[in-house]
Amino acid sequence: MKVGFVGLGHMGSGMAASLLKAGHEVTVYNRTRAKAEPLIAQGARIVASIADACRDSAVITMLANDNAVEGLVLGKGGIIDSLPKGGIHISSSTISVALSEALAKVHAKAGQRFVAAPVFGRRTWRLQVSSSLLRPDPRTQSPQQLLSSMRSDRRLSLSPRRRRPLISSSLAATF
Ligand SMILES: NC(=O)c1ccc[n+]([C@@H]2O[C@H](COP(=O)([O-])OP(=O)(O)OC[C@H]3O[C@@H](n4cnc5c(N)ncnc54)[C@H](OP(=O)(O)O)[C@@H]3O)[C@@H](O)[C@H]2O)c1
Repeated sequence: MKVGFVGLGHMGSGMAASLLKAGHEVTVYNRTRAKAEPLIAQGARIVASIADACRDSAVITMLANDNAVEGLVLGKGGIIDSLPKGGIHISSSTISVALSEALAKVHAKAGQRFVAAPVFGRRTWRLQVSSSLLRPDPRTQSPQQLLSSMRSDRRLSLSPRRRRPLISSSLAATF
């Protein structure tokens, strides 16, 4: 798939590299361009604006916090302005449920789709829980494919007592 990736910090750079390794065509944007450059050797295309990272029908964001996500999604020339109708935004940052719900509404109003796929654990555990919670219906097939490409092989092994609150918080953020 062709996908844009915004936010190449500790987590984002590894996730974008996993997508490239899985054969996806990845266009990357980072506020600090130098952090994107190591991905060129792995086949990524660097762009200089959010709009250019949203030319295809899917964009993934992995940003620091609510403020960063809000600015890059809702700001002028941001993801809402740039993603085509029918396009999907997969947000993997740790953000508040309130912002997640607000983004789902704004995307829907713009004719776009929004999936909150927050990451749990450390870098090597990324996306284990959240990706397995996405329903495999036709609307989520594409994000499911992308999320699967970013999963690590390492399995989370949590006791039922610890797993329950983790899954509850993921569900709250995802749906
Ligand atoms: N690290 C972990 O083990 C871990 C585990 C689970 C969840 N998480 C969550 O994953 C998310 C990313 O974590 P990370 O460790 O990758 O963070 P990070 O290394 O600090 O990277 C943050 C990214 O956000 C960008 N950013 C921050 N503020 C911005 C702004 N105002 N405008 C544009 N870009 C902005 C940074 O761009 P620059 O490069 O230009 O600064 C960078 O690309 C966070 O929500 C974190 O809570 C992290």
